[in-house]
Amino acid sequence: MNVEVYSWEKIIEEGKARIIIPDPALFTRSDGKYEPAWAPVFYNPLMKLNRDLTVIITRTMYPSGGFFVEALGGSGVRGARLGVEAGMEGIINDVDPIAHYYIRRNIILNGLENRLEAYMHEANSLLNSLTFTGVFIDYIDLDPYGSPIPFIDSAVKPLAKKALLGVTATDTGPLTCSHPRKMLRRYGVRCTDVDFSKELGLRVLIYNLVYRASGQDVALYPILSYSYKYYYRVFFKTIRSSQACYELLEQCRGYIWYCRDNLARDYIREPGEIPRFSCRDPVVLGPLWICSIGDYGFTEDILSRGYEDIYRDGVEFVRSIRSDYLVNTPYYRYDMLFGRFKKNMPPIREFIDRIRDYGYKAYRSHFDPRGVKTDAPYEVLVEVVNAF
Ligand SMILES: C[S@@+](CC[C@H](N)C(=O)[O-])C[C@H]1O[C@@H](n2cnc3c(N)ncnc32)[C@H](O)[C@@H]1O
Repeated sequence: MNVEVYSWEKIIEEGKARIIIPDPALFTRSDGKYEPAWAPVFYNPLMKLNRDLTVIITRTMYPSGGFFVEALGGSGVRGARLGVEAGMEGIINDVDPIAHYYIRRNIILNGLENRLEAYMHEANSLLNSLTFTGVFIDYIDLDPYGSPIPFIDSAVKPLAKKALLGVTATDTGPLTCSHPRKMLRRYGVRCTDVDFSKELGLRVLIYNLVYRASGQDVALYPILSYSYKYYYRVFFKTIRSSQACYELLEQCRGYIWYCRDNLARDYIREPGEIPRFSCRDPVVLGPLWICSIGDYGFTEDILSRGYEDIYRDGVEFVRSIRSDYLVNTPYYRYDMLFGRFKKNMPPIREFIDRIRDYGYKAYRSHFDPRGVKTDAPYEVLVEVVNAF
């Protein structure tokens, strides 16, 4: 069916989908940069990587398609891509009538009327009511403005017994402790400045989502998560099982102690377990997620599928983040470590090689260009630094 495209609109291509959006040229700042929040319907080209990964992961998990709900749909670009590129059926929802209008037209533009439906509900009320329909949902996507916390309780309810959940959080200010009061209010953590603030934020986010879902007997396992520019993204495999929830929290809920003066840190299960030798004035942060933030095996699976031809950036990105899943200790800012010991900083590669010479794992971290992930005990790290 034909869709009329007006003079103030444009058709853009993303992945294999075509999307009508209000002409970006009408919503640019004085420096010529497009400002998605000014447009009557939200389409952010900077989130293409986020959507590429959504397609890659749903295709990997559901090679013969499945049923999805995109609760916060905006222009409908993500849902349309799931329809066209992942062969899925589903619902694209948005409470805003203008967004709904674009979603409807974008479904038609891509010839997906038989597989996708546009809904116009408040996301929580839609997700809550879907719980009782008997529809098994394989994938739910939460892509809100800001924090996903207002939506997580209802999002886990309609998921099938085994399913997939994708969550974006753009409230990186509170999560990285730039707004400590908001961090406490929203995520229950009294935070302080740390050299691994980006990883702290992701671990606090993952824990909060897992904890709230487990209250409804849905266990969330992070299979791929990352920090990118101004947002976090986490994909979880989900299982409805009270026993799995108990085991997950028993194993993966914890705290981290941290010494501001010498950058020593480690995970503990309870706040009282800080070792006496740590430093003069350690701080304890948490509760947070103390297990791996992703599944290395799952990334192997993605990389073995030959997606490079279509999703080169997405595949490259997966390759660049997955070493963060091999070492659990939060990354050290190596510039701060060398500063602390008043040593001249070698090139980061040399530092990493030297740690490896001692027989430990060491990698660059996707969180920070100055970040080094290593499982070397703190004392070994100090020895390596002092040997330069
Ligand atoms: C960040 S945009 C979504 C972008 C989209 N997922 C994408 O990939 O381009 C967030 C959307 O959520 C919608 N929204 C905000 N609060 C909502 C709610 N409570 N229920 C349903 N939609 C909501 C907004 O209208 C907006 O279109």
